[in-house]
Amino acid sequence: MNTLTVNLPAGAARSYPIHIGHGLLHDRDLLASIIPQRQICIVTNDNVARHYLAPLTAALADKTVITVHLPDGEAHKNLASYAQILDALVAARYDRDSLIIALGGGITGDIAGFAAATYQRGITGLQIPTTLLAQVDSSVGGKTGVNHPQGKNLIGAFHQPQAVLIDTATLATLPPREYAAGMAEVIKYGLINDPSFFTWLETNRDGIRAHDPALLAEMIAHCCANKAAIVAADEREQGVRALLNYGHTFGHALEALTHYKRWKHGEAVAIGSVIATRLGVILDRVSDADAVRTAALFAAYDLPATIPAEITTAAILDKMQLDKKTRGGILRLVLPQHFCDSGIDGGVAAEAIRQAIDACRA
Ligand code: NAD
Ligand code: GLY
Repeated sequence: MNTLTVNLPAGAARSYPIHIGHGLLHDRDLLASIIPQRQICIVTNDNVARHYLAPLTAALADKTVITVHLPDGEAHKNLASYAQILDALVAARYDRDSLIIALGGGITGDIAGFAAATYQRGITGLQIPTTLLAQVDSSVGGKTGVNHPQGKNLIGAFHQPQAVLIDTATLATLPPREYAAGMAEVIKYGLINDPSFFTWLETNRDGIRAHDPALLAEMIAHCCANKAAIVAADEREQGVRALLNYGHTFGHALEALTHYKRWKHGEAVAIGSVIATRLGVILDRVSDADAVRTAALFAAYDLPATIPAEITTAAILDKMQLDKKTRGGILRLVLPQHFCDSGIDGGVAAEAIRQAIDACRA
């Protein structure tokens, strides 16, 4: 097992461990050591519960445990699912010393984390992420919340968990398309600030695609260490944390234009990251060869890297204006300053953005 720490500014009391290893859900001593609470609410869904709920409940046999099964899917990342958890906590008369465990992907983690942030003005949460995306990104850093009918993640809170437990064995049952979508967020860390990790992902492609346990553990730990450092530096996204949105402004526009149905989030982020890197070429910061390498790496991990013809450049530019990073009408984009070294740019000429989008067509 590998243990990292998210070091938060207010000191050791808020800092927390990320435990990473194969089969950790079956390690009863570890579970006992990180779960001192007596009243436990496990939040999960049927997809995940059928594989992973039993070992967790067995390890908690001496405690009071309730389980909330949420409906699956982004359409249910809403206030109704959040209320389902609160109703269960109230019905069980759980007090302020109780614990919510999120067992599932990023959707479960975000909703359960938000319930922990708000039940009785805040109780403790613990994340057990079971998708690659959740293991490398959403379970770490304390962003919690649900969607509003008018937009994604519009309701939420920052609320750090007491620990993150990553059992890499859970990825064995993940559908291949979900695994690929998680790889988009993995590649993102290379593009943000880590050229040697980008090369490592090129070199180890076959092993990672085959779920080699040692490579997976190394890759996930590397991503978590990068994210932990970014969160430690900027917990509430006043600056550097925004870099985690590389490719996301373009990706969110593509998702919205296709009503969140055509692509998984990671797939849209893959296309968006290719566009952002291409914009780096147009701004004379990245070589054409490195932009070609970027598109090739996403494709190598079964991710899309081009924009279909039926989505117009004008429509993408229009949707991008809704991005949460826009300030005073000025679009702010996470872009390469050099290859694998990103920053935030405001006021990039619309013509350059247009050229970058046009250059990424199939
Ligand atoms: P998800 O939670 O919907 O999981 C994807 C699918 O895989 C679901 O059908 C789920 O039931 C299933 N699943 C989960 N684990 C499984 C397993 N081990 N075996 C078989 N099936 C399994 O999606 P996701 O990609 O994990 O998360 C996406 C969400 O994460 C989005 O809502 C996004 O906004 C959020 N997110 C949050 C943050 C953050 O910092 N909080 C960061 C990135 C993304
Ligand atoms: N996934 C973006 C963040 O945690 O800030």
